[in-house]
Amino acid sequence: MRKILVTSALPYANGHIHLGHLVEYIQTDIWARAQRLRGNRCIYICADDTHGTAIMIRAGQENRSPEALIADMSEAHQKDFAGMDIQFDHYGSTNSAETKQFCEEIWRALRRDGLVKEKEVSQLYDTKVGTFLADRFVRGTCPKCGKADQYGDNCECGATYSPTQLIDPVSTLSGTRPEVRQATHLFVELEKMHEFLEEWTQKGTHLQSEIANYLAGHFLNDTLYDWDISRPAPYFGFEIPDSPGNYWYVWYDAPIGYIGATLQWSKLNGENVDEWWRSADTEIYHVIGKDITYFHTLFWPAMLKTAGLTLPKKIHVHGFLTVNGEKMSKRKGTFILASTYLEHLDPAYLRYYYASKISGRVDDLDLNFTDIVGKVNSDLVGNLVNLASRTAKFAEPLGLSEIYPEDGGIFAEAASRMEEIAEAYEAFDFSRVTRLVMQIGDMANKYVEDAAPWSLKKDPEKQVELQNVCTIALNVYRQMVIYLSPILPHLARDTAELLGERVEDWRLESVKTPLVGTKVNKFRHLMQRMDPQKIDAMIARSQEINAEEEKMKDVAKWNDGPEPLEAEPLAPECTIEDFTKVDLRVARIIDAKHVPTANKLLQLTLSLGGGHTRNVFAGIKAAYNPEDLVGRLVICVANLKPRQMKFGLSEGMVCAAGAGGTEIFLLSPDDGAKPGHRVH
Ligand code: 2FM
Ligand code: ZN
Repeated sequence: MRKILVTSALPYANGHIHLGHLVEYIQTDIWARAQRLRGNRCIYICADDTHGTAIMIRAGQENRSPEALIADMSEAHQKDFAGMDIQFDHYGSTNSAETKQFCEEIWRALRRDGLVKEKEVSQLYDTKVGTFLADRFVRGTCPKCGKADQYGDNCECGATYSPTQLIDPVSTLSGTRPEVRQATHLFVELEKMHEFLEEWTQKGTHLQSEIANYLAGHFLNDTLYDWDISRPAPYFGFEIPDSPGNYWYVWYDAPIGYIGATLQWSKLNGENVDEWWRSADTEIYHVIGKDITYFHTLFWPAMLKTAGLTLPKKIHVHGFLTVNGEKMSKRKGTFILASTYLEHLDPAYLRYYYASKISGRVDDLDLNFTDIVGKVNSDLVGNLVNLASRTAKFAEPLGLSEIYPEDGGIFAEAASRMEEIAEAYEAFDFSRVTRLVMQIGDMANKYVEDAAPWSLKKDPEKQVELQNVCTIALNVYRQMVIYLSPILPHLARDTAELLGERVEDWRLESVKTPLVGTKVNKFRHLMQRMDPQKIDAMIARSQEINAEEEKMKDVAKWNDGPEPLEAEPLAPECTIEDFTKVDLRVARIIDAKHVPTANKLLQLTLSLGGGHTRNVFAGIKAAYNPEDLVGRLVICVANLKPRQMKFGLSEGMVCAAGAGGTEIFLLSPDDGAKPGHRVH
């Protein structure tokens, strides 16, 4: 029995799980389940990746602590994964004592081996927000081609540069111009591990050959650059014990989170983490997307090696998801969250469709909506489930035959594919698995078609024959479901139940022994056809979510607090007729003076143009000096019934916002308005 620990990349805690993420989690889950089905011990470990600037900034914009943000996100992630039938042995967090413990341990080893050095770094600093700026929070004019509004580290023209070289840099956090500041950063001298990395990546089978070649051609053919793994405060992460005020960069502690989460799992399950991470007989597999190859194939093995921890047996790299042949697009509604998918569709569809397209290579995977409907309806509903739905009802009163009947070799043929299917699972070639299994289904359906149990049913003489046909169909169906159970765990459970078995007892070998002489339970619907209208609804909903999100982003950007509305809730609804009763006009203040006996009022003379003037007493004395008002345009209520005050007659009102006292803000029209213009 092999002892395997498999991981998926830890998702960032600053966003929800979408269908792109799921390419990875679904394939790792299938692989882990397939290992268990073969009788291997396999734990699937994952966690949220919680540190870094982006999460700190987002929490700030949402007016809450990063801890509160990551707690909510962890809950949401786990709910989405569970909905997709992705089953972790443990789902942890990088923001844990356990991860910190291993960060420190690995750090000591890096220091001990002289791999850490300090360097002064010039970085842009936002003085308004009080933080150093990561490259993506700076925009400015390209130093090479002069194009405005480019990213901090690269331009549309293809140039790459350091943010300190940008002309007229602007912080996207505050809109202010950042200044260049010096800070000491800590670097890991990866070059010192060059020889080891050359050996580890190029010899053996730790990597797919295209990945090994990529590393050889892009990194290992040159000096490996020093890796900047610290960030100065403020930073959401772990402070470096021997470098106060500096924090480990999120990419230092993220992979260490794999070990931290294993330690959490060990504590909860009475296990010893060393038996997994300091053990020659544990196989560690990391499943990752191609964009994070560098961190996992160079930096991570170097850290593990230095600290004397178990190196991965394999780092399995996969490609990205495209939808209908294009990058996922929020505008087109093809950026689909797991939660939106689950509101509309069965997780089995996506699991099966992804499986049918995953081959173990690094290529991208396309989710095509026409294709998924065709595939699900023909393979799962038309082929697989059809076998059971055409025979289970007839078998229910009869049970399965005592002896497995002659079937022309279908069962034996299906059983003989076991090794090939096991190997295909091992190699992440799930598309081969689905093809091999569907061929079995084709044979079995043809058999049922020819045997026509629905005709046998009608003939009382043919009940034994009917029982035999059903026994064959349901046994081959069971073989198919066992083979597909890593991909379709829900269907596996329902099928085991139908046949009076426990899904937990199934092993891959179970395909070799037919089920005979047992009861067949009441048939319940196993799977619905996939309805294309539900896909349309899901896309429409995704577009809606995107629009809401854009709106929320604007709200966050301006950072407008709730206080004014809370202080004065909205008035009851009024009609347009109500509104037009109030005649608002642009007016110019042509005179303003104190009223000797009034401590809140100024006396204003307003001109509505053409010699029409109004005398108005306005309670704005604490906020305005009379001399600053003369000449400016304001908005006045021109048809307000005149009111006799003890200082004189007030013939209108000027419009102002604010809480009162010194917090009064007169309304004025944009340039171009003329006294006397009505406000509509
Ligand atoms: O790319 C990402 O989404 C990272 N959060 C993956 C981290 S993987 C591991 F190193 F933790
Ligand atoms: Zn440029």
